[in-house]
Amino acid sequence: MSNKPMVVYLAARGFERDLLDELALNGVHVREVKERLVLADGLFRSAWAQNIWLEPFFQPIASVGEAVRTLKSIQRNWKLHSVDFHRRAALIEEQLPPVKAKPLAFGAPAPTSPLGSWTLWDRDTLLVSAKCSSAFADGEVNFEEDKLNPPSRAYLKLWETFTLLGQGPKPGELCLDLGAAPGGWTWVLASMGARVYSIDKAPLDAKVAAMPGVDHHIGSGFGLEPKDTGRVDWLFSDMACYPERLLGTVKHWMEADAAENFVCTLKLQGATDHAIVQAFREIPGSEVIHLSCNKHELTWINLSERRRRAA
Ligand SMILES: C[S@@+](CC[C@H](N)C(=O)[O-])C[C@H]1O[C@@H](n2cnc3c(N)ncnc32)[C@H](O)[C@@H]1O
Repeated sequence: MSNKPMVVYLAARGFERDLLDELALNGVHVREVKERLVLADGLFRSAWAQNIWLEPFFQPIASVGEAVRTLKSIQRNWKLHSVDFHRRAALIEEQLPPVKAKPLAFGAPAPTSPLGSWTLWDRDTLLVSAKCSSAFADGEVNFEEDKLNPPSRAYLKLWETFTLLGQGPKPGELCLDLGAAPGGWTWVLASMGARVYSIDKAPLDAKVAAMPGVDHHIGSGFGLEPKDTGRVDWLFSDMACYPERLLGTVKHWMEADAAENFVCTLKLQGATDHAIVQAFREIPGSEVIHLSCNKHELTWINLSERRRRAA
């Protein structure tokens, strides 16, 4: 019997194998797996977990009514993640207070009221956690999308990142956007009033290139040097490139003290290289997460205030 606390991990959609591999590599013992839910001993902030149920416990229930009373007595807001006994779980869910599932407008803060997660682990047993790592249902953020202005859907990655961080570039701050074409990220940054030095082998969408504060360069993000731009407030990269190469570049900018904050996509190909993910995670002050709109890729975030705290 482990003395580590029981934790439930919800794997990012389609990345159950990556979650299990990362947990194993980090010494987390898995007890049982049901679809995307992984019941394990011990907490590890796996990049492949879309949500983590932090304080789960089993609760036997004799009836649907008892399950409803149990959940309501803990708190108001609950998200069912159904894996089995779907009909019975749906009957319980119907009697719980409704939870608003309205898409979020970008700029609105993440919800602050606690949202618990639950499931029927077997017919007569609830698995419940009032506390979860994400404020969003199943860790997925749904925005009121802008289908008109951004030239690619990649803009959703930055909307989600800034919403989760509760901060982003301030008006006038200088942002470097490596691998910027066709311009979804540059569009977000310029819309927030930031100055953007964007670079890509390809041009930006003409409307984005014409936005105030946007200065686009044709070239390689790997060829750019801190002396070309001066110190930047934010370094962004969504370059389609090997993560090893990106690691060298971000370390170069960090060692030169040439960038305050970093947000970079780690594009993973084929079998996931967990060692490279770990190498990014080990940079002091870092977190590596799977955004709702990330596919086989992760987002590495390193903010100067967290870097200083971690030093
Ligand atoms: C996923 S797209 C970026 C999408 C962009 N963030 C957006 O919001 O529209 C990847 C981009 O990386 C660019 N890229 C690949 N290698 C690069 C390099 N060495 N330097 C600059 N850009 C590169 C590609 O040309 C491509 O436009």
